[in-house]
Parts: sequence; structure tokens; C-alpha cells
Amino acid sequence: MLKVLAVFGTRPEAIKMAPLIKELEKHPGRIECKVAVTAQHREMLDQVLDLFQITPAYDLNIMMPNQTLYEITARALTGLNEILEQEKPDIVLVHGDTTTTFAAGLAAFYRQIKVGHIEAGLRTGNKYSPYPEEMNRRLTGAIADLHFAPTATAKANLLREGVNPENILVTGNTVIDALLATVKDKYVFTDAALNAIDYRGSRVLVVTTHRRENLGEPLRNVYEALRDIVEQYNNVEVVFPVHKNPKVRNIVESVLGGLPRVHLTDPLEYAPFVSLMNKAYLVLTDSGGLQEEAPALGKPVLVLRDTTERPEAIDAGTVRMVGTDKDAVFNACKTLLEDSAAYEKMANAVNPYGDGRACARITAGLEYFFGLRGNKPEEFINL
Ligand code: UD1
Ligand code: UDP
Repeated sequence: MLKVLAVFGTRPEAIKMAPLIKELEKHPGRIECKVAVTAQHREMLDQVLDLFQITPAYDLNIMMPNQTLYEITARALTGLNEILEQEKPDIVLVHGDTTTTFAAGLAAFYRQIKVGHIEAGLRTGNKYSPYPEEMNRRLTGAIADLHFAPTATAKANLLREGVNPENILVTGNTVIDALLATVKDKYVFTDAALNAIDYRGSRVLVVTTHRRENLGEPLRNVYEALRDIVEQYNNVEVVFPVHKNPKVRNIVESVLGGLPRVHLTDPLEYAPFVSLMNKAYLVLTDSGGLQEEAPALGKPVLVLRDTTERPEAIDAGTVRMVGTDKDAVFNACKTLLEDSAAYEKMANAVNPYGDGRACARITAGLEYFFGLRGNKPEEFINL
């Protein structure tokens, strides 16, 4: 019996780990999977646990208002020590690049427990961008024994750093598994304001922002550009589910609060959120996950960052990096609102990040690495 402990703490980790946990649960007798959450996020994590009906065996409940990187790291690390002592798993699975990811990898390493890194190998090459995620991911990669890389590009990054190819498996991104299992064409929102929007007659811009390096002036610039867009184009509606971070909420409220055709909502549950994206005209975001999901839905994305660790959709032409300069954001929106050829060029459904079978590959990969099956699974190939 292979004992797996999956550790995560934030919304995106939960969304991307949930389908994997469900897949691992399909192998009783061979694999036992337990979940420990740090709850670095509280409400935004619980939304996902509820949707996917995941009951953690352990919940460290570490979130604090305006938490610092020091607090998250220290509270997760010490809390996980006790859990690992009790559970003694064969492998700890962590996901991506959050501070929970890094702390959980480190906690497992201190006890000489193997670490499997899901969504391994993404790199910007700039240690401060995204901050602190680029280093969280690199440090976790340095600790990890098994690297589940979503794409061939991510695998190439790991090979360049000297990782043994035998310990890497290209799987596709589990977010595409989650997305395909969740998105519905005819979705009815519980929020009346979202149902009232004319998604065909108007042009709906879906916006999300949260990156630490964008807090303050960069976010203010972006919101001012959006305000100008809404003022200039009377058929544009903005739907902006605002991250729970008070440092984001305060600026959003001060620039966009009360404006006509701007809908500021609490974070949406995953099912309504992906359906909203599916009905949107355009997505503006500094999120990592949205850069992977929106291309699969054929929605152009303007990335509100100066670097990205996800070059595949940029290469495919559906994602454009615009940064946070007010004029640059305004002009990029203007182009996609006025130039239908430019819009159509970006609005192709492409799936460079996965085919919905990443979790099956990771499960088979774990079985292979632990000697429960003979041959290494076939890798995900982006055709
Ligand atoms: C974290 C991750 C980031 C990831 C993002 C996804 C780190 C350092 N950052 O950033 O990599 O992309 O999550 O959203 O790991 N809050 C709540 N309720 C919640 C969630 C957050 O109130 O459910 C508030 C709290 O005041 C908290 C603050 O938001 O202190 C910031 O949360 P934190 O996890 O530190 O940073 P994020 O920007 O969410
Ligand atoms: N998401 C959601 N509700 C929202 C906004 C985003 O469920 O209101 C989902 C989104 O579909 C994606 C994930 O949350 O899967 C992205 O999370 P976030 O942007 O917080 O983190 P990142 O991907 O940047 O690490």
C-alpha cells in the first residue's frame, strides 16, 4: 500500500490537486491518500473543498489577516512537522509555487520523506518575479524526488537544471482536468446580477488580480485603465471577483467601486467562475491558473504582469503580456474591442496545457516510481 499525503493551502492549489485526489481515491487497496491543508487561505480554500467534497484529515488553519511570508512559512512548517511524525507517508505531494508548497516540501525533506512536485519546472528566470513564487517553485524543485511537469517546456527547464530525466514525467496540467470536469455551457448563476448581464449583446471583461508584486501602484494603474475603458465603451461590462486580500480590495473599491457596468463580487466558487469565463469576451488577469484555463475556452487573455512562467499560450497567440502600465492596458483592451481581426486571431481554443488526463498520468507515474507497475506511463504531448 502506497501512503500518500497531499498538502496544500490556497485556492489554486486546491483546484489543481482536487481532481488528483479523486483519481488517487479510485485505487483503494493500492494507494491510500490523505489530505492535510495549511489553510493559508481560509474561505477561498473552503469553497473548493466543498465543491469537490474533500475532507482533509488535518487542517492547520494558519491564515491570519495581512499575513507575512515569514508567518506563513513558520506556521506551516511547524504544523506539518507534527502531522508528518504521526502519518509517516511514503510520499508528500505538493503543488506549484505557493509558500505552503515550499514549506511542505521542506517539512518532508527534514524528515527524509519523498516529495512529489506537481506542476514542476515552470520558470521565469527572475527570482523576484513572480515574488515569492519563482523561488518557492525552484526551491521545491531542488527538494523534490519526483517532478510532474505539465508541459515539455517545463521538463526542458528541469533538464537544464540537471534533474535526472528518469524522475520527470510530463503529464499535462491538472487544471485542465478540473476545468473540463466543471465547465458547463448553459450555466445559471445564483447571483442575479451575473444572470442579468447580456453576454451576447455586450462585451464582458472578466478581471482578477492578486499578485504581491502588483499591490499598490501597479494595481491602481490597471484599475484606472479599466475605469477609462468602461467610460469610453458603453457596451462593455466588467465582472471582477475580488480576491479576499484587503490590500487588493481597498484599491479596487477606491477606483472601481460604484461605477456603472462594473460588477465587483466576492471570489466566485469554481463552477460559476469558469462558466463566467466561458461567457466572457476577454480576460484580464495576473493569475497563473487563468492563463491556462482561458486559452482552453478560446478566450483571449491580457496578462497584467511583466514576466510569465507560462510561455506556451503566448506562443500559441491566445495570451498577451501587457504589464501594468495604465496606457498599455488601456490600449491593449482598445485594440481587442475595436479590431475584430486582432480579436479573432487571439480567440482560438487551444490546449497547450493539458488534455484532461493529467491526474491519471500522475497516478500511474506514482505507481511506476514506487514499483507498483512495470512501465513508465506515456507522457502528455501537446499536438
Ligand atoms: C497566495 C500565494 C500565491 C497564489 C495566491 C492564489 C504565497 C506567498 N502566495 O497569495 O502564490 O498565487 O495565493 O490566490 O504563497 N485572505 C482571506 N481569505 C482567504 C484568502 C486570503 O481573508 O480565503 C486574505 C488574508 O488577509 C491574507 C491575505 O488575503 O492574509 C493574503 O493571502 P496570502 O495567501 O498571504 O497571499 P495571496 O496573495 O492570496
Ligand atoms: N478562480 C475561482 N474563483 C474566482 C477567481 C478565480 O474559482 O473568483 C479560480 C480560477 O478558475 C483558477 C484559480 O482560481 O483556477 C486561480 O487562482 P488565483 O488566481 O487565486 O491563483 P494563481 O493561479 O495565480 O496562483
